[in-house]
Amino acid sequence: MTNLQTLDEKARTVLRQNDKGHYTVPTHGLYPYQWNWDSAFAAVGFANYDIDRAWVELESLFAGQWDDGMVPHILFHQEDPGYFPGPDVWQGRGPIPSSGISQPPVAATLARRVFDKNPDVGRERLSPLYDRMVAWHRWFMDWRLDDGAVCIDHPWESGRDNAPDWDRGMGSIDPVGVGEYTRRDTTHVNSDMRPTRYDYDRYIWLVQRGARLGWQQSEIVKDIPFRVADPTMTFTLLRANRDLLALGALLGRDTSEIAGWIEILEAGAQSLWNPQRQHYDGRDVLSGSWADSLSNASFLCWYAGLDSEPMRRALREVLANVTYGIPSLDSRDTRFDGKRYWRGPVWGMMNMLAGLGMSEMGLPEGEVLRRSTAKLISEHGFAEYFDPRDGAPAGGQSFTWTAAVWLGWASPSAEAN
Ligand code: GLC
Repeated sequence: MTNLQTLDEKARTVLRQNDKGHYTVPTHGLYPYQWNWDSAFAAVGFANYDIDRAWVELESLFAGQWDDGMVPHILFHQEDPGYFPGPDVWQGRGPIPSSGISQPPVAATLARRVFDKNPDVGRERLSPLYDRMVAWHRWFMDWRLDDGAVCIDHPWESGRDNAPDWDRGMGSIDPVGVGEYTRRDTTHVNSDMRPTRYDYDRYIWLVQRGARLGWQQSEIVKDIPFRVADPTMTFTLLRANRDLLALGALLGRDTSEIAGWIEILEAGAQSLWNPQRQHYDGRDVLSGSWADSLSNASFLCWYAGLDSEPMRRALREVLANVTYGIPSLDSRDTRFDGKRYWRGPVWGMMNMLAGLGMSEMGLPEGEVLRRSTAKLISEHGFAEYFDPRDGAPAGGQSFTWTAAVWLGWASPSAEAN
């Protein structure tokens, strides 16, 4: 077996080890439940060798959908004392114990990749999921828009937990009454790779507020303490609507509502354009201030179908300053920290989304990114994330989405099948 075949096999082993039968954990220990966008990536990984299992992953995710359309960011299928905050803190009100917030909607886009692997199976499995996806996207459109951009109500909703984009909003929260709690994440990995205590108090305070309000969106938006218009959410939802529209057309559905959402989000994405810095940015809705953060989410613009010369220029500059793909924060930024989660490290799955978008829009950097991600994984393994300067693996190990990114995009064999 060549080295690359061995890596394909190792990636499948990671997925197998993290497979709980009908859902996949991101990694044992640190993340012992089903996470929303992690699962959508897992499905792409499975689709390479087990199409049925790929659809099962997506079906389990949508089985947790709430009656208002929201699809939670965590489904607590089975209790695990190794994770905090668990179901008792969240008090979700869906059919499966869950968190009360969502995560970037990549599922429709990645379901389309799964569909394309085997359209006959896809047609049958997609049909019931399609309506659930529409309802989920409608929930974002109903509850999360500001000036046409999609907002988050909790940093965890963005999937980029401690990105500098939320610093301003987090700073205006006084986490009074949060009480005593014991973090579990720092028992699994080194604390310098994790968010700080300051951040955690505010994360938990926001969860407690949502739980107290029964996660009723109409209550949550009143006097809201945290709301940021987020490039991750805006670009992934815009892209997901394009894919959902294509899938709806394949199924012979009326897609006019989705076409309307695409128009709103295309215009809304422009409200994330930071005119001073000339790039897409996080916008704190409550204070009206910019994050001044050139992040890997800024570079999801092509994935969303939006090209521009200033973003191409920004991309070239950012890539020139690191070795492995797009850092979660520009390495020239004074807030850059190459080991701390979403404040510097490079993430394989973000490289994949950004790279796919670039290749689709004819940017040669898409292929550059694919190759550098392949090099990163083949040299440093299936870690949760990596230092973008030297590739040092960080966070959890044997990570589902890194294995899935290898199988579904980065590996040379991904093209062949
Ligand atoms: C972290 C990441 C988030 C991911 C989760 C599980 O919270 O920030 O994006 O979904 O871990 O991997």
